[in-house]
This record gives sequence, C-alpha cells and structure tokens, in this order.
Amino acid sequence: MRVDIITVQPALLESPFNHSMIKRAQDKGFATINLINLRDYAINAHGQIDDYQYGGGAGMVMMCEPIANAIEALKKERTYDEIIYTSPDGELLDQPMANALSLKENIIILCGHYKGIDERIRQLYVTKEISIGNYVLTGGELAAAIITDCMIRLIPGVLGNEESALTDSFQDDLLAPPVYTRPAEFQGLKVPDVLLSGNFKNIEIWRQEQAEARTKQRRPNL
Ligand code: ADE
Repeated sequence: MRVDIITVQPALLESPFNHSMIKRAQDKGFATINLINLRDYAINAHGQIDDYQYGGGAGMVMMCEPIANAIEALKKERTYDEIIYTSPDGELLDQPMANALSLKENIIILCGHYKGIDERIRQLYVTKEISIGNYVLTGGELAAAIITDCMIRLIPGVLGNEESALTDSFQDDLLAPPVYTRPAEFQGLKVPDVLLSGNFKNIEIWRQEQAEARTKQRRPNL
C-alpha cells in the first residue's frame, strides 16, 4: 500500500510513522508513506496556500490551485483508489472502514487546516471524507496519522501472528476481553484461575463471555 499525505505541516507526521509497527511495515516493504508539503505548490514566493473566504467571516480557506496541482502531480505517477479528505464533517472512522481501506493499493490523504478547503476541491477530487471523532482538531494531520496507522496494521504480515489483528476489539463488533501478564497476583488482585488452568477450551469460552459482558456494559450500541 502507498499512502501519499498532502499537508502544510509535514513535520507533525514524521514521528508517528518513524517508530514501532508502522516503521517496520515500511522497512519490510508492506507500505510506503510519502509526505507532500503543500507549500511546494504555493501560488507565490511567500508560500501562500490559503486566502480569505468569499462572503467574509473569520478563518482562512485552503485554496484550490495548490491542492489541485499537488494532486495532479501525484496522479501523473499512478492511479489512486481513494482521495481522502480529513474533516470533522466526514464519515466517522470505524473498524469496518479501516478494514476496507487496508485493501486499497494507492491512497492520497489531504489534511485540512484553518476553515477547511475550498468546496470545489471536495467536488472535483475528493472521493472520501473521514472524521476520526465528533470533536475538532487544529488540523487534519493527527487524523491522517490515525487513519494511516489503522489501515497499515491490518495489511497481512505487518503484525506478527502473536498480535493478529483478527482478535482486536471491534473486529467482530465486540470489545476485547481483559488481558493479564505476570505476576499472578498484584496488590491483592489475582489473575482469573481459568487463565492459569492450561485448559484452552475453557479459556476461549471465558474470553468470549468477558468480551460479550464488556461490550454490553460499555458499548451496548455495538
Ligand atoms: N480535522 C479537524 N477535526 C477533525 C476530525 N475530528 N476528524 C478528522 N479531521 C479533522
């Protein structure tokens, strides 16, 4: 999978992709993440990429030309399955969406800023608009990092067997059951006996029951 991220703040995204699983995914060739600085497509030598909004009002709007030129330059190199725009008014990101996105080959993520992007870019280029939650961030970069992370970790081979994505919370509309490691007792709290029993059938049944109980209690809507 290749992810091209168009942003005015590339530095914000360098660290999230340079550690742990996502770094390993890139090192092993499962994913390529490419940051495109929108200022490279600015309309003038001042690096301008935004302007006042027509009709007045506070907040700048990201201009059409820099974004269109950045996207066109990328499209010259390859065909894209999705051009995603990160925005609080997009479709809410969830596990089924992450699963579907993880099957794509080439994706552009366009990070919004200020008051957002000129509506015509949404009409002309954007194929999917994603929100990571019902709250407003200062920009779309953190949303892009989250979308990229949850897509890439699902690519077969990125996680080891021991961390199989199939047992994640939400994969079967259930939250994950509680987990424990050593010591068997900590501050008076004991690991449930069944997990120490070595009886894998019973352990599986217990985990399923715990997952169902936890989901019912915390996320009955699932
Ligand atoms: N940009 C600002 N807030 C956002 C959100 N909640 N999701 C995606 N992009 C955003």
